[in-house]
Amino acid sequence: MRTMNSICIHSHGGPEVLSYEKLPVPSPKAGEVLIRVHSAGVNPVDWKVREGYLKDMFEYKFPLTLGWDVSGVIEAVGPGVSRLNVKDEVYSRPDLSRNGAYAEYIVVRENEVALKPKSLDHVHAASIPLAALTAWQSLFDTAELKPGQRVLIHAAAGGVGGFAVQLAKWKGAYVIGTASGRNRDYVSGLGADEVIDYQRVPFEDAVQNVDVVFDTMGGDTQERSWKVLKPGGILVSIVSPPEANVQGVRKTFVFVQPNFTQLMEIAWLVDSGKLKTLVEVIMPLSAARRAQELSSEGHVRGKIVLKVD
Ligand SMILES: NC(=O)c1ccc[n+]([C@@H]2O[C@H](COP(=O)([O-])OP(=O)(O)OC[C@H]3O[C@@H](n4cnc5c(N)ncnc54)[C@H](OP(=O)(O)O)[C@@H]3O)[C@@H](O)[C@H]2O)c1
Repeated sequence: MRTMNSICIHSHGGPEVLSYEKLPVPSPKAGEVLIRVHSAGVNPVDWKVREGYLKDMFEYKFPLTLGWDVSGVIEAVGPGVSRLNVKDEVYSRPDLSRNGAYAEYIVVRENEVALKPKSLDHVHAASIPLAALTAWQSLFDTAELKPGQRVLIHAAAGGVGGFAVQLAKWKGAYVIGTASGRNRDYVSGLGADEVIDYQRVPFEDAVQNVDVVFDTMGGDTQERSWKVLKPGGILVSIVSPPEANVQGVRKTFVFVQPNFTQLMEIAWLVDSGKLKTLVEVIMPLSAARRAQELSSEGHVRGKIVLKVD
């Protein structure tokens, strides 16, 4: 039996449950591909799954390999796979209920995989799928953001926020982002028309009449966001379903879904220079614990990526 290095968990818990061990290399079944992982993106959902936040949503089997952003090369295809081939360089945000990409190999359904942007190496490609799909599905599919509309993007220097700023700008919206002072120039450089330093000024004092609030923070940030919406505006949260009943505005919660056609469009945007990614931290697979601790501190600019090979 072939084995591979993997970072997995045998139970939910703190960073100490992360285990670096050998697991069998999985085999692709019908409609699936085996990817040789070159890089795995790190996202807050990785440590949230580890801690058990999503255990009522998904039935996890242990040992569970974490990490749901991958860039790599297809090594084998299962029966019925027609769009992708061995040796294709691909990226994906795989199904959260299955084994992830903190490993040398991962099996993913063909319909969750797209050719990666040609202009990027695997480290940078792996930083994109989950965060960019979340921004795309929230702003375009759900909020139906239109040119000229005003959008407030919280945590604009983060993984999701950074893509959201660029995608909203590409759509022709007027973009306002929140970030700490150290990230002001970075967020402006992504295309934001205004950057509010949330540590210096309450954002609700600095912005009004917004069509769309993209809530990547939840809690108090979500509560204070209602007052910046214009009548008919919408608050889209990716952190917690908005519960307040505020007259005259709309609210919704988005949970990102795998989508290869959107990944193809995102790859095209990257290759045509319209969408950039910043990987602030690159670590080896064996440093997954430190990577998750850093992610959970909540102040990384852009993305963290584990380099597997
Ligand atoms: N529902 C879904 O499908 C979905 C998908 C993806 C992510 N999420 C969730 O969305 C959240 C954001 O994800 P992410 O990957 O973007 O996180 P992230 O990259 O870890 O976010 C880090 C950023 O947050 C900023 N930040 C921290 N506190 C802030 C505040 N009070 N106001 C404004 N910015 C603040 C930091 O900037 P400063 O250093 O400048 O403070 C930092 O750049 C996480 O909770 C994640 O689990 C949900």
